[in-house]
Amino acid sequence: MFTKLKSDLIMAPMAGITDVAFRLLCKKYGAGLTFTEMISANALARGNKATIKMIDVVPEEKPRVIQLFGQNTESLVKAAKYCEDKCEILDFNLGCPAAKIIRQGSGSALLERPNKVKEIITALSSAVKNPITVKMRLGIRKSKINVVEIAQICEEAGAKMITVHARTQKQGYTGEADWSWIKKVKQAVSIPVTGNGDVRSVEDYLRMKKETGCDYVMIGRAAVGRPYLFKQINDYNRTGKYKQREQKEQIGDFFEYLKLAEKYKLNFKNIKFHAQAFTKGIRGAGKLRLKISRYKNVQEIKGLMKPFYNNNL
Ligand SMILES: Cc1cc2nc3c(=O)[nH]c(=O)nc-3n(C[C@H](O)[C@H](O)[C@H](O)COP(=O)(O)O)c2cc1C
Repeated sequence: MFTKLKSDLIMAPMAGITDVAFRLLCKKYGAGLTFTEMISANALARGNKATIKMIDVVPEEKPRVIQLFGQNTESLVKAAKYCEDKCEILDFNLGCPAAKIIRQGSGSALLERPNKVKEIITALSSAVKNPITVKMRLGIRKSKINVVEIAQICEEAGAKMITVHARTQKQGYTGEADWSWIKKVKQAVSIPVTGNGDVRSVEDYLRMKKETGCDYVMIGRAAVGRPYLFKQINDYNRTGKYKQREQKEQIGDFFEYLKLAEKYKLNFKNIKFHAQAFTKGIRGAGKLRLKISRYKNVQEIKGLMKPFYNNNL
């Protein structure tokens, strides 16, 4: 059985972005599940210190998901065993389109190797006690979509939930996500299916659920700088209404992120990224982002953001 979640909303794994502070903020605003960014199983199996540090999960965010990528079954099993007691769920990446990842045969490159996928998911499912989930794209290109076959193989091999990012590898992050494939996967498997791709609002969420019948909805880019979106959707589900977020409140969210980032001693690069992200939709955001990009320490960022928070600009 897949873990029961507090809401049907999931924050997507995003490399360099979904650090522990941001994940906790997403959970506070009602994400039922959050993922670490993808972690290299090869590096983890070798005991690489920098990779071990990337597993920044804390008990407060339970249920925790660690996402692994790789192509070597032995390394994946070793990495999964390392993660077994550090998280509730282990996710396997079959979606990353980045050149350096597919060159090593990992991420979305594996969509071309159904037998290898079967071998990996079978091995992971029997190696650890955690449910194994899989996040996948539609296929390599539009003329070679095989997501239904891959999802069925994963289910047979023991996977407990499938996420479909409804784009092909070749699409990268451009073009439109084709949700009709999420519906096809949902109809083809009996484990829960999470739909992902281009959900940016309460209305998109409602439309994805209605059009695809998916069990969960995963949101990536739209929740960056705007984790309050999870609350808006949950509020709508509960009451039929939701509130717009004011500029001041959104900057307040950044300060909350910052408090957590300082607590967990996150690096300045992450703080800078999120400071820029939380200016989303604010008047003069372009100029603010440029200023932030030149800053060298947290004090400078605080100085710039405080007046927005105090509403005395
Ligand atoms: C900067 C960035 C980093 C990402 N990193 C990961 C990752 O580590 N693992 C993964 O499975 N997907 C990753 N993704 C893909 C997202 O999880 C998600 O599938 C994609 O952004 C589509 O959802 P959206 O339209 O809601 O953003 C990344 C996407 C972006 C833009």
